[in-house]
Amino acid sequence: MSEPLTELAKRRGFYFQSSGAYGGTAGFYTYGPQGAALKRNVIDAWRERFITQEGHMEIDAPTVMGEPVFEASGHLDTFDDMIIECPACERSFRADHLVEDETPIEDAEAMSFEAIEETIAENELSCPSCGESLADVAVSAFNLMFETNIGPGSSAPGYLRPETAQGIFVEFPQLKEYARNQLPFGVAQVGRAYRNEISPRRSIVRVREFTQAELELFIDPERDTPPIDRVQNVTVPLYSATAQEGDGDVVRMTIGEAVEDELVEEWIAYYLAIAAEWYESVGIDMERFRYRQHRPDELSHYASDTWDAEVSVDGNWIELTGFAYRGSYDLTKHDDHSNEEFTIFRQYDEPVTVEEPSVDPEMSVLGPEYGSEAGKIADELASLAESDPDAFDAESVTVTVGGESYTIDTDVTNFSRTATKNGEHITPHVVEPSFGVDRLLYTILAHNYREDEVEGERRRSLSLPSSIAPTTVGVFPLMTKDGLGDRARELARKLRVAGFTVTYDDSGQIGRRYRRQDEIGTPFCVTVDHESLEDDTVTVRERDTMAQERVPVDDLKDYLTDRT
Ligand code: GLY
Repeated sequence: MSEPLTELAKRRGFYFQSSGAYGGTAGFYTYGPQGAALKRNVIDAWRERFITQEGHMEIDAPTVMGEPVFEASGHLDTFDDMIIECPACERSFRADHLVEDETPIEDAEAMSFEAIEETIAENELSCPSCGESLADVAVSAFNLMFETNIGPGSSAPGYLRPETAQGIFVEFPQLKEYARNQLPFGVAQVGRAYRNEISPRRSIVRVREFTQAELELFIDPERDTPPIDRVQNVTVPLYSATAQEGDGDVVRMTIGEAVEDELVEEWIAYYLAIAAEWYESVGIDMERFRYRQHRPDELSHYASDTWDAEVSVDGNWIELTGFAYRGSYDLTKHDDHSNEEFTIFRQYDEPVTVEEPSVDPEMSVLGPEYGSEAGKIADELASLAESDPDAFDAESVTVTVGGESYTIDTDVTNFSRTATKNGEHITPHVVEPSFGVDRLLYTILAHNYREDEVEGERRRSLSLPSSIAPTTVGVFPLMTKDGLGDRARELARKLRVAGFTVTYDDSGQIGRRYRRQDEIGTPFCVTVDHESLEDDTVTVRERDTMAQERVPVDDLKDYLTDRT
């Protein structure tokens, strides 16, 4: 992000590094009043598009979860970055970033530890902090999860969630009930996630505590298809893994073509389409936007295919959202590791007859004859039916219980080779659009920052869409005397009651007041002047064009509603 915009972000209350009084804590940011409002508006817009319009559910799960969750999810074993520690100054660095910063290699994250060590040695890379050689220093794995203890002592380790997604997956047995056991259904969550980044970077782009807006869509992979017809004409810029490996480039094509060419899995394609339209609506410059497919060597441990929404800021590509096909990975893992079933019952259209040998022994015969052994004999008959169904072709079968043999009339076992089934339990697949909210805010600010010259002075403005601007209207009295101040305050109050976010400002020259609102992206400023006292009109000034027009106060609400 450019220096002037970073300065503006702090000075105007968008965001700043936390705990500045104590020197600041790297990787943690506080959103000031404008930033918090912008964030809230962007999240509201996300909820409206990805939850409300799609008919999905939203939950709010804890940010701390016990160790078994992350043993099952694979995060404990595999959620690592490569770390290298300087033997002289003991500072730690992300080894792949060091290689990317100091060599022409662009994607070192996909390299093995050994390859990174060799590259560091061959290029004689040294510590960015003290200059000590790192040539013979080992690279090791660093797990990115923040660990804590649940309750006193250390017997119950817990972790701050590294993704909101796990809070959804672990509740699948409950959530499927809310969805009346019908696929497909989507569950979203907006909340904090935590990663103990080795080297936080670029202000709010790579931070240790961040906000995600994630949607987990549970589908039956054999039966459910997305409503592609609704989005098939949306054109998206696609940068496939094959194009990245060869000499290929970004290709613009419609979603309909991308699905037909089997370039993008259809559910992922559906979300790429609606997300592209949504990004544009919140102010992303689509000329600096692309969808990039992960190459096989960079896929997360849970994904079989992923496309990232990427944006260019100051010439660097930043990942905004991952659209991952997680398949049955997560639900299978939690099914294996927990005592619950992470499956759903798929009803057949018609009952089907399947080969499934079974017995239904007549206990009224076995009970009186074999007493306390009858139950165990029935169990053995069931096992025999599975392992050797042909044994039941004879008039009797023999099973062993407690070292003793029992010969039972086959008629009494009610043996059957087939069963009628109405359906089966399947593990749903998961399609996940995962939005990083902080990066999105960063990009919205960067893509909408403008500098121009007005009356010989530099003007800085944020050309934010009205729907997400932190403040919608600035209300100014030309001067506070002659009753103009009271009149403007009353107008500000009425506009607030009507639902607008309003700032009242009576300090300094009117031009200065316009500049202050331009810098926080306020789309409209309303000035109350002497004419207002006579004819009950005000001047409305638009941020980007700076055009002014007189509007009757009685029409102001509708005027602003039509334009926001
Ligand atoms: N849930 C995907 C991610 O956090 O990257």
